[in-house]
Amino acid sequence: MKGIILAGGAGSRMYPISQLYSKQLTLIYDKPLIYYPLSILMLGGIKDILIISNQETIPFYKKLFGDGKHLGLNIEYVLQSAPNGIAESFILGDKFIGNDDVTLILGDNIFYGKLDFFQRALERKTGATVFGYRVTDPERYGIVEFDENGKAISIEEKPAKPKSDFAVPGLYVYDNKVVEISKNLKPSPRGELEITDVNVEYMKRGELNVEKISRGVAWLDTGTPESLLQASNFFGAIEDRQGLKVACLEEISLHMHFIDIEQFENVITNMPKCAYREYLAKILHDRKNR
Ligand code: TTP
Repeated sequence: MKGIILAGGAGSRMYPISQLYSKQLTLIYDKPLIYYPLSILMLGGIKDILIISNQETIPFYKKLFGDGKHLGLNIEYVLQSAPNGIAESFILGDKFIGNDDVTLILGDNIFYGKLDFFQRALERKTGATVFGYRVTDPERYGIVEFDENGKAISIEEKPAKPKSDFAVPGLYVYDNKVVEISKNLKPSPRGELEITDVNVEYMKRGELNVEKISRGVAWLDTGTPESLLQASNFFGAIEDRQGLKVACLEEISLHMHFIDIEQFENVITNMPKCAYREYLAKILHDRKNR
């Protein structure tokens, strides 16, 4: 399974900072936003990751992650010359995907809680899996309609009259057919290659699974200054209460056995003195003494 993070975008709602770089570099409490979606792919066991973004932002991601080796990952980068739509990911990522299956996560989507819904999707061998999450503002999202047996029967992008309150979050798991399906898409009236059109095609073929995500999981979509502040407060409260960090990539690498304890120690040595380093040093200490 390959992983793609789509982390460019116009970011118009984030003006003026969007003049400089994409919102995925802004801080959510104590780390850049992109750490959170990357952590989800890693927790799914995905080590081959493509970051797609714009010309201004790619150099910053390269500075943050390089080739990913220090995290036990293989990270590659591809340019999206303009925000031509989410489904363009699979055309730009064609070579990277090769003959594999692929999970796409949007760079501004954060999940927190038990990730069993994602695990189940990764275990499926064919077709596509998208998710359904109850929201109060369904007009803003792709919305999935279920029949009385809980089977998904329609998906509509930003409907004026939503048929349900279940939005499709920016996390999608596809088999390899997604590349061919995306290449055959026509741009929508707003000029984008729509991910909803990909999902509708899978639905027509009878190969779309929709998993509802339970209310015990938080899905945060961080497109505006207000939602960024909410997310910062949310993770600040959790981290402060538990003394454990969310989306701490080095900790996750060690936990997933992507790196061994020696590599973990090396990563820490290269960090400046700071709370983040102290946190990792404590994990190292606990590991060595358990
Ligand atoms: P959006 O929230 O649809 O858009 P945006 O981030 O460009 O912001 P705004 O609406 O304020 O102009 O994007 C969702 C995520 O997908 C976000 O992380 C940016 C990314 N994205 C791309 O990288 N390329 C694209 O072509 C699109 C449509 C989105």
